[in-house]
Amino acid sequence: MRTVGLIVSILVSFVLVASAANFYHEFDVTWGDGRGKILNNGQLLTLTMDKFSGSGFQSKNEYLFGKIDMQLKLVPGNSAGTVTAYYLRSQGSSWDEIDFEFLGNLSGQPYIVHTNVFSQGKGDREQQFYLWFDPTKDFHTYSVLWNPQRIILSVDGIPIREFKNLESTGVPFPKNQPMRIYSSLWNADDWATRGGLIKTDWSKAPFTASYRNFKADACVWSSGKSSCSSSSRSRYTWLTQELDITSQQRLKWVQKNYMIYNYCRDTKRYPQGLPKECTAQ
Ligand SMILES: *[C@@H]1O[C@H](CO)[C@@H](O)[C@H](O)[C@H]1NC(C)=O
Repeated sequence: MRTVGLIVSILVSFVLVASAANFYHEFDVTWGDGRGKILNNGQLLTLTMDKFSGSGFQSKNEYLFGKIDMQLKLVPGNSAGTVTAYYLRSQGSSWDEIDFEFLGNLSGQPYIVHTNVFSQGKGDREQQFYLWFDPTKDFHTYSVLWNPQRIILSVDGIPIREFKNLESTGVPFPKNQPMRIYSSLWNADDWATRGGLIKTDWSKAPFTASYRNFKADACVWSSGKSSCSSSSRSRYTWLTQELDITSQQRLKWVQKNYMIYNYCRDTKRYPQGLPKECTAQ
């Protein structure tokens, strides 16, 4: 074990651990009165929603940077109106937040993956995607890489979005507020189905989303100190990781073929000019 000062001048102690995460150890089901369940000795977590309530869970730990992987299997069948939110968020009124939100759809129609990044309470950075597979058939890995230089959202190892640290241009970047992981399954048929076009079909309830294989190579924040861990294979590479050429090509492939909304291209929304981070990249 050694202790070093990280770029953000916090003390970080590095410990090598093989992260075999157990939902009982890492998460609390915080909402839904029994509709959220940890199963199979902590290897599986399910959230359900019915007419009366959705459900949700949150991480016991707060993290300040990390590479956080979770496998999700989304609500199958007619899931229109359901939203499975999976996100990191800090406390307070000028919070930081990194969002994945999965907007359900009619049977056979594609989910929308809605993403956003908030820094110091300001979001409005939506990007939306379709997926290149059916996210309800199997588990797929959704990852947040968050280090002092960038945030990268990936699906099955394929980057779909990068938010760079452009503080030098005056755009705040999440880097000093620890965040917890949250997830919830809730009803949003008033907006998630293209402005309420389609209503949730409650005859299909309960709706279920499942989670497994949580893995965090991350810095856990506790009493003003951050302890970082890494599976032996990755050796903290995530702390400085950036997109290599292959990953950049994959990101372009996703953006070209699967991106359906990008605030950075919404000139109607920003008649006075696009947000700074859109033009600085
Ligand atoms: C649902 O499917 C329709 C038709 O393919 C599509 O236009 C829409 O973007 C999909 N997603 C949502 C959340 O409505």
